Amino acid sequence: MKKHVILIGFMGAGKTTIGKRLSRKLGVSLLDTDRLIEEEENTTISRIFETKGEEAFRQAETRMLKTLAKCEDKAVISVGGGLPMREENRKILKETGTVVYLRVQPDTVLKRLKGDTARPLLQGGDAQKKVRTLLNDREALYQEAAHITVDVDDKTVGQIAAEIEGMLTP
Ligand code: S3P
Repeated sequence: MKKHVILIGFMGAGKTTIGKRLSRKLGVSLLDTDRLIEEEENTTISRIFETKGEEAFRQAETRMLKTLAKCEDKAVISVGGGLPMREENRKILKETGTVVYLRVQPDTVLKRLKGDTARPLLQGGDAQKKVRTLLNDREALYQEAAHITVDVDDKTVGQIAAEIEGMLTP
């Protein structure tokens, strides 16, 4: 098995929740790029978008990914939904671990993120349209970045974690 297990996928796919369960099952740490960026900058993702702009956030993501790629101990790494959109990041992801794409349907995202205010890309306007358009634009790149795809709709966290564990070849 490659050193790390990396979870990618759209907002609301369950990367953090599944990452927590999977890391416990595997007995390794969970490293989450969003949380680590927030800790590093001592503020929220929303504030970073507001004060520095999306591009600055994307640069912070690539910087954080490069740091995590050097991590010696095996870990589960959960990355922000937009991180695999950069070609440079996709290359690092593939080299750094087994990349698992948690594929989610737009309706599930909308149900899960109803009322969410922490994701700047989904604020204001027609959320349904935003989710559908973004997911549609991103789908091919998620596929390109991943070694494994797991559909997450209508499954429990335990089922998904077990499915991923079963696909990780020793
Ligand atoms: C983003 C996803 C978010 C966060 C930021 C941008 C995206 O992470 O990185 O709001 O571009 O899809 P989650 O996927 O963990 O919600």
